[in-house]
Amino acid sequence: MGQRVGVVGATGAVGQELLGLLHTRAYPLDALHVFGSPASAGGSVPWPGREPLTLEALEAGALRACSRVFFCAGAEVSRTWVPRALEGEGLVIDSSSAFRYEPEVPLVIPELNAAEIPARGLVASPNCTTTLVALALAPLHRRARLTRLVVATYQAASGAGAAGLAELTAQTRAALAGEEVHVEHFPRPLAFNVFPHVDGFLPEEGWATREEMKLTWETRKLLDLPELPCVATCVRVPVQRAHSAAVFAEFAEALTVEQAREALAAGPGLRLVDDPQAARYPTPLEASGADAVLVGRVRKDPSCARGLALFVSGDQLRKGAALNALQIAEQADR
Ligand SMILES: NC(=O)c1ccc[n+]([C@@H]2O[C@H](COP(=O)([O-])OP(=O)(O)OC[C@H]3O[C@@H](n4cnc5c(N)ncnc54)[C@H](OP(=O)(O)O)[C@@H]3O)[C@@H](O)[C@H]2O)c1
Repeated sequence: MGQRVGVVGATGAVGQELLGLLHTRAYPLDALHVFGSPASAGGSVPWPGREPLTLEALEAGALRACSRVFFCAGAEVSRTWVPRALEGEGLVIDSSSAFRYEPEVPLVIPELNAAEIPARGLVASPNCTTTLVALALAPLHRRARLTRLVVATYQAASGAGAAGLAELTAQTRAALAGEEVHVEHFPRPLAFNVFPHVDGFLPEEGWATREEMKLTWETRKLLDLPELPCVATCVRVPVQRAHSAAVFAEFAEALTVEQAREALAAGPGLRLVDDPQAARYPTPLEASGADAVLVGRVRKDPSCARGLALFVSGDQLRKGAALNALQIAEQADR
């Protein structure tokens, strides 16, 4: 039997990716409802192989009638509409940050904690960067227990949604043509630039950004390490798609580089790309469009007793968002 699926935010970067994945992964569908903002209602989105789908305005009855509802329209929309969807009998999978920190809401990466997926109710899918980093850390943590984490990220423009990607493209074209570069969505020009500013600054967290704190809060919840010392610097880079991270992890037990490589090569959802002699390592271009998160540059961190350094690249629109959300649904269907 198929599911009655609702996709909220179907015109956005994550929603579009999700529609593609529903098709390519042949997700069993009895019905597919797509929702956009009130301004988009009545318009349409392409649906591979069939007629375009008509966008609906959000309405409680339509959400309640769905057995699987994917929210990919931002935290504000989720805060208003997830409670309405939960009045139905279905499973609601939220890709926004709205409910991730509620203790009773499971935060799920199926490769890590599929057992927490309920038959109905709410599941949160983690922040995109956190998903990629936590997936890479999980097999190492299982072997040697993570005790400290330092991360620097390199985040693509599409992490800021369809508008972010469009802005990078327009800025790059303008800069190359010697024209004025317009900044609307990002805090600075992104073309030919990088800036350590993803999401807003939080004075109460010593001026870390919200993105940096998401990485801390969500890694702790996902790995069940509530006291994990963790610091991140999240940087936007002029890459279209796929986030990367330089990860420095310290462990309670000794773990050789060879043991770490073995654990990563066998890690679900991961692909080890680590051959320095052949200049093989993860890059966002290679990670784009792939389901697996790429991990490489695995080496000892000589600055501490039991530390490892690694580099991770993963498609944040797939495993970092749409694919993870769909895998949660697929797991619930079993
Ligand atoms: N981009 C990523 O890499 C990524 C990764 C992980 C998680 N996420 C999370 O996923 C969510 C979506 O992100 P995105 O990057 O796909 O954003 P996006 O490209 O900006 O798309 C936003 C979507 O939300 C819809 N929307 C806006 N206001 C609405 C309203 N009042 N009612 C119904 N729909 C509304 C938009 O529809 P209209 O076209 O009609 O305006 C659009 O479909 C966010 O919570 C984000 O944090 C994003």
